[in-house]
Amino acid sequence: MDDVATAQRRQAAQAAAALVEPGMSVGLGTGRTALLFVEALAARVAEGLEVADLVATSHKTAAAADAKGLRLRDMMAADTAPAVDIAVDGADEIDAELRLVKGGGGSLLREKIVAQMAGRFVVIADAAKRVRQLGAFALPIEVVPFGWAVTAARIADATGVAPVLRGGEDPFVTDNANLILDCPLGAIADPDGLVARLAAIPGVVEHGLFLNEAHEVLIGTAAGVERLTRKG
Ligand code: 5RP
Repeated sequence: MDDVATAQRRQAAQAAAALVEPGMSVGLGTGRTALLFVEALAARVAEGLEVADLVATSHKTAAAADAKGLRLRDMMAADTAPAVDIAVDGADEIDAELRLVKGGGGSLLREKIVAQMAGRFVVIADAAKRVRQLGAFALPIEVVPFGWAVTAARIADATGVAPVLRGGEDPFVTDNANLILDCPLGAIADPDGLVARLAAIPGVVEHGLFLNEAHEVLIGTAAGVERLTRKG
């Protein structure tokens, strides 16, 4: 029996799986909600839905998709297609403008690549992920291992907050062989300004602010799935 949050995630995941049409290529996110989407999509494929191919945003999601017999695109191939029709992923925070914090699972770089490949990027989540202002969830930042402490100091200068190395003495290593610094910023008053400051720091590979990627958000609630779309 699902707890409330899992039931909401599953509802959203199933609603997203219903958006996939025959012949589409599909981006698969990472995390608990994204794995429920993989499950829901696999159920549709088992019922006869034919998808073109799938792009996974992490080794973990790739393994889950593979275990269900789903066909994955080789993203290392020179002739890989430049786009997917739809990508579906979870989020750690979602504000009213559909801006996101992502990277709780440490896969933000591949997630952003795939989100930006997508003709339609659909975020699925439980109701607790909606926030008035981004920033209560510590912002994950992927950095190269070389000089990571120097990069952390630059991030501290740029944000006024000391980042925390994920995993501490046994650091978490991403699928890209990088590290994650979690930045407990509190309310982020100017996300665009923060993005510009982080982009200027050498050693920062990518950050978990997804300000323009989401086209729509599906939230599981007690009253059904709520659909939020980007305005303008
Ligand atoms: C992974 C992510 C996840 O999508 C995010 O952390 C949400 O995960 P969950 O669905 O488990 O709450 O960004 O890097």
